[in-house]
Amino acid sequence: MEQDGNVIHFISKIENVDFKESLEILAERANINLPTLEGTVDNKRQELKEKIYQINKEAALYYHEILYKEISKPAQEYVKKRKLDNKTLKDYSIGYAPINSNLYSYLKQKGFTNEEILASNLINKVGNNFVDRFKNRLIFPIQDVRNRYIAFGGRVLDNSLPKYINSPENLVYSKARNLYGLNVAKNSNLEKLLIVEGYMDVVSLHQRGIENVVASCGTALTEAQGRLLRKYAQRVIISYDSDAAGQAATLRGLEILNNLGCDIRILQMEGAKDPDEYVIKYGNGRFNNLIDKAISLVEFKVKVLKRDLDLENINDKIKFLNEIAKLLSTVDNRMEQEVYIDKISLEYNISKEAIYAEINKLNYSGNQGKKILDNNYRKPVVIKKETLPEALIKRESIIIGLLLNGKEEVYNQIKNILSPNDFKSEKNKKIIKCLYEEFEKGNSNINNILEKFNEDEETISIITGIMAEDYEIKNDKKAIEDLIKNYQKERLLNRKKEIINGLNDESLNEQQSKELEKELHDIIAKIAHIK
Ligand code: UTP
Ligand code: MN
Repeated sequence: MEQDGNVIHFISKIENVDFKESLEILAERANINLPTLEGTVDNKRQELKEKIYQINKEAALYYHEILYKEISKPAQEYVKKRKLDNKTLKDYSIGYAPINSNLYSYLKQKGFTNEEILASNLINKVGNNFVDRFKNRLIFPIQDVRNRYIAFGGRVLDNSLPKYINSPENLVYSKARNLYGLNVAKNSNLEKLLIVEGYMDVVSLHQRGIENVVASCGTALTEAQGRLLRKYAQRVIISYDSDAAGQAATLRGLEILNNLGCDIRILQMEGAKDPDEYVIKYGNGRFNNLIDKAISLVEFKVKVLKRDLDLENINDKIKFLNEIAKLLSTVDNRMEQEVYIDKISLEYNISKEAIYAEINKLNYSGNQGKKILDNNYRKPVVIKKETLPEALIKRESIIIGLLLNGKEEVYNQIKNILSPNDFKSEKNKKIIKCLYEEFEKGNSNINNILEKFNEDEETISIITGIMAEDYEIKNDKKAIEDLIKNYQKERLLNRKKEIINGLNDESLNEQQSKELEKELHDIIAKIAHIK
């Protein structure tokens, strides 16, 4: 990670994640399942991370249990007022930090050190004192998809400001890479996944049976979150607040999701400021109707266009026509385009002919708008299957995996026995060649290798996939030996064939024949020995 200019470094930089998480992103892009990579990252950092997860878990339980105690009367009244039932409180481990909350001593009692406790950001050091971050707030623990507690949001029980305070980013929490409630939502039917703004929207919808819902927590949706959504759901429905801020956030979120190739719908809500208020006021049946009626990106953009124009005004009407023509010309699918034109014509009282004429004008001038309706999902890198035995590929992967982990002893063991050309998989051959070169240069840094394959996504996918397996010499000693034996045996068998053919050659003199026969003899002995 010290070096600049390689994929992993690049990703860890733009996504603000560590090495391991960068690998996870790469693997996700390549559609590879990444098992845990424990041990490949700096151990101390890893240990501290583990401690923070433990601390967060303890804290979540601590806050949750307090909620039911006598001192939490104000919070109990508040959750009642917000109509949250016990199951919801439990499902999301919602809790309460009392006014004189003393999480610090609780954590000390549990044996955590000051360093660990401060690293969790749940406690601040003020002078010589340790002070809880959250006091007199309703606590929403944030969990990641693996159900680890990574952060907290705390809401005041009245109208004072700030309404929420949240954990800052730290070793275990990257705001941009998580979605509140995904750990729960991922267990529901994910044909559609709703994205809302707030904690309260998530828990409130969930309580009323709408379980496929996550929150971006009031900030602009990030690309990483978009990818997360895309990973879990076929269709994403944006259901932000109905105020101007919510609408602006919707537009920004749309761009992100659209660029990622997500199938998006936009939920239109009237009569309530947010999904929580709506579902309480009108019930889940009507909210489900809104989900079904959620509009497409084109329709949403037309709506936004219309909002700032007065179609009674002739100039505005011309402008509107121009803009929708641009928008519609980006719709590749003819039928889809027709459907939109019918709808728009009807809704805004513009003749279909006028719209078609305008679109044609654009087509001829070649002045098409940016493609916004490109519904092709970004194609994951397809690793074409080679017709080789799985076991063989596996053995080759193990060698590569060990070399990628910088195991010089493995290199020394195989370098004089196996050449890159002995590797049967063309893809592996390419990687092993590069690894041999790097080891020869005394360079066993994985970053260098990845850099070599900068643009070659398929190879990078293979490498990250192999890295993810986390091979250990201890366990894989046999695999190396097997591989070497196999290649040796194969080479001997080939030579044996050659000799047998050669012996039939009548131009051989006696001396030559004798030598060949002796070699054949040796080879047969060797082959027997290898078995
Ligand atoms: P909202 O103000 O819509 O919050 O902000 P909400 O969850 O619906 O809460 P209620 O219904 O008013 O009680 C949306 C999200 O923005 C973040 C929180 O994640 C909140 O859930 N936010 C909002 C903050 O982080 N800090 C704030 O001061 C306000
Ligand atoms: Mn709200």
